[in-house]
Amino acid sequence: MPTTNTTRRLRTGSSSLLITVALCGLLLNTNMSISFANPAGDLPSIEQRVAELLGQMTLAEKIGQMNQRNASDGYAPDYLREGLRVGRIGSVLNVVDVDIVNELQRIAVEESRLGIPLMVGRDVIHGFKTVMPIPLGQAASWNPDIVREGARVAALEAATTGVNWTFAPMIDIARDARWGRIAESLGEDPFLASELGAAMVRGFQGDNLADTGTIAACAKHFAGYGAAESGRDYATTNVSENELRNVHLRPFKAAVDAGVTTLMASFSDIDGVPATANEFLMRRVLRDEWRFDGFVVSDWDSVRQLAIHGLTEGDRESAYEAATAGVDMEMAGHAYEDNLEELISEGRIDVAMIDATVANILRAKFRLGLFENPYTKPAELPAIANEHALATAKKAALQSVVMLKNDHGTLPLSPEALDSVALIGPLADAPYEQLGTWIFDGDANLSITPMHAIHSLVGKQVDVRYLRAMENSRSKVSEHFDDAVDIAAGSDAVVLFLGEESILSGEAHSRADISLPGDQAELVRRIRETGKPVIAVILAGRPLTLTNIVDHVDAILFAWHPGTMGGPAIADLLFGVESPSGKLPATFPRMVGQIPIYYNQKNTGKPPSPDTIVHIDDIDARAPQLSLGMTAFHLDAGYTPLYSFGFGLSYAEWEYADIRTSASELRLGQSLTISADVTNTGEVAADEVVQLYVRDLVGNVTRPVKELKGFKRLRLEPGQTMTVDFDLHTDDLSFYGRNMQLMTEPGDFHAWIGGSSDAELRTEFRIVADD
Ligand code: NOJ
Repeated sequence: MPTTNTTRRLRTGSSSLLITVALCGLLLNTNMSISFANPAGDLPSIEQRVAELLGQMTLAEKIGQMNQRNASDGYAPDYLREGLRVGRIGSVLNVVDVDIVNELQRIAVEESRLGIPLMVGRDVIHGFKTVMPIPLGQAASWNPDIVREGARVAALEAATTGVNWTFAPMIDIARDARWGRIAESLGEDPFLASELGAAMVRGFQGDNLADTGTIAACAKHFAGYGAAESGRDYATTNVSENELRNVHLRPFKAAVDAGVTTLMASFSDIDGVPATANEFLMRRVLRDEWRFDGFVVSDWDSVRQLAIHGLTEGDRESAYEAATAGVDMEMAGHAYEDNLEELISEGRIDVAMIDATVANILRAKFRLGLFENPYTKPAELPAIANEHALATAKKAALQSVVMLKNDHGTLPLSPEALDSVALIGPLADAPYEQLGTWIFDGDANLSITPMHAIHSLVGKQVDVRYLRAMENSRSKVSEHFDDAVDIAAGSDAVVLFLGEESILSGEAHSRADISLPGDQAELVRRIRETGKPVIAVILAGRPLTLTNIVDHVDAILFAWHPGTMGGPAIADLLFGVESPSGKLPATFPRMVGQIPIYYNQKNTGKPPSPDTIVHIDDIDARAPQLSLGMTAFHLDAGYTPLYSFGFGLSYAEWEYADIRTSASELRLGQSLTISADVTNTGEVAADEVVQLYVRDLVGNVTRPVKELKGFKRLRLEPGQTMTVDFDLHTDDLSFYGRNMQLMTEPGDFHAWIGGSSDAELRTEFRIVADD
């Protein structure tokens, strides 16, 4: 809207000497000074435009940019219009009606003094109308390309409503399956979460943030939120600086390197300083060390919650703490709006600091191209849920499903060999539940359920019988179990659709018991008694403890909440159109008491092994208490998980051989290649995710027993062998030592290549010190 801006600025008599003339949509700058609203080409630079605009802003307008208001009422209420008109609001969230968004933008751009457009935020977490698998499911694909494409589809759909900022990706490292938000995470591993989080950022933001259909991303929740005590959402986190840097901060650094526009401060208290007031995180690490030049938004009202944490006495001090610690924009609360001006006039907050904060926000708006194109024209964007969107959702779902068990080749089912199949369970035909948590805009009408997809795929050849059997996953009413047993007994195979509804995971939905809820385990046992082949397809928002059902089923497909196209993906996998290829992005414990359990743990001084553990049932009641020779395990659970990180079966068989390195020694600053040959010794073509793990044997601080350092998804035909190479630079082996400096140490390393973190094919190399 160049003409409008020019006219308005002349009318308001800005102090700038700038006089601009609109000519054919191009602004000519007659005295060569800088126009912040000038859309012409690449002159002047964004930094110049930011400075120019800042120079014209009143203090109230600057503070206005730091306010984000909720606008979910479904219309543009008067207080919002008025706030925009007087320049007191920099961003809104939760409005997804394009006409309202355009109207809000129009007020901001045409009726406010300086015409600064709005950031319009929304939780677009794993899809918009077309829903991809939950992020944890996407992480099970170990496929950055599909993760990036899923985010691109989500951005294109969200952009049709005028949303230009998503609060995703959530890249909190999650090692506690009780935590409801593990569903939104990319799992337990810093390397996997870094690769996939960066891919998501690229998918949302595209190559140029100013392009139509790209939206700003937000890496959240900075930082350590996933380490909530006992997996209780919002609970305190206590993470040492060393672990913070080596584990929790890594995906955030990767997101910053990928160009993420914003970060969100976490709700939680971390080592006594809530993240929203954590200067160490937001100033020292984010700005000083990483040179981040985007902006940080608080979480919902988390500035005012600083008082509830007990860090401050009230909103004024909360505003002071958050603003000085580095929260640039306050989400939903009024602490900034009500207090910053006074804090500045008292001299407690320097205007220069506010200028730097507002510059961060304006920079993002310029990068988004909002000054040139504040309005949304949905017709310029692809249709919602188009063929490509649905194909992407299906591919993501296909690659996210993890086959945990497949005794005697129970799967795939052969339509030729079956007369009938029973589909039983509360999640076989639940269009909404398959979408998963946090899908404000997801359209359950688009969902194709497994029941429908199986009918379409094999319904002409196989008699498909369906019984829900339980109202929902939590039901303890077993009155339909007899019918379920009858149907199962009369069928050639039984597929049970079990798990958790969407609402049992996600924000504020943590569980202390993560086994199948309700009477599902009992249903499994009853069906088992029929003697028919039993396949469990589990839809859930987290790893579950499956110990009480695992021996009662022949096969398990763990499908997470697979999204809109979950049904067709599951049908294809069950009937062998495609082979399962997902790998676990988080460890599955045997029992909840093992949590936190994750593969890249430290060795301890007393590492467990099969011959050092005893089982509780084998201890003599009178046995003397001995610690000698004892190791780190649980008497009742041992030390191994039920299913390891990186694990996932296939209809193909995989053989790994001949692991080797291009050199046995290298110097700091050099690279080497670690290779192995992977052969598909099975009878079907399939994808395999080949994984590289490394162990740094001796460190300035203790190092994990294994660390993921690379992965590749390959497709191999039966009988085909492929050499997989992983290039490793010594920087890839760096870690934060005792002095919190990133370093790579000379010394000995082990490396494994295989299909899970249990990989046994090992080689060695050594980094030698410079003379
Ligand atoms: C609170 C959540 O913690 C955050 O992830 C989300 O983006 C905001 N609410 C906005 O809905």
